[in-house]
Amino acid sequence: MNYLGFSEAKVLETVGHLNQLLANYQVYYQNLRNYHWNVNGKHFFDLHIQFENLYNEAKVSIDEIAERILTLRMSPMSTLTEYLKSSQIKEKSTASPKEMVESILQNHKILIVNMRELLSVAADSDDEGTIDLVAGFLGSIEKKSWMLDAWLQE
Ligand SMILES: [Fe+2]
Repeated sequence: MNYLGFSEAKVLETVGHLNQLLANYQVYYQNLRNYHWNVNGKHFFDLHIQFENLYNEAKVSIDEIAERILTLRMSPMSTLTEYLKSSQIKEKSTASPKEMVESILQNHKILIVNMRELLSVAADSDDEGTIDLVAGFLGSIEKKSWMLDAWLQE
């Protein structure tokens, strides 16, 4: 048992999923910055600011995930090399505004699956602190997905 009363094996499993989420979020974050900078056309003003809102939220989530791992007395993945190697979300370069929004929705799907698996693992170890943190991210990403999906409707 560690200082929070979790078994080593349970913590290792939870942290594996948290590090996966961290790597996914880092690449997602950079995709958003890329789109914020490179979006063009008649949707520029809308999307430029929305991508900024999304990456600012992602930045906060990234820090919270890393600090949850530290709270569990483990090491967060911390280098770009590790993130790129582990991330299920891939770097995506410039595209049309529509492709950018579709790509972010696709990134959200990966984050959502990652978070649901993590919630299930955390529930197995009665890790309410992790559940509380990740459930908040999940609800927010789902709501943002609704908005992006609405934007895509003709
Ligand atoms: Fe900016």
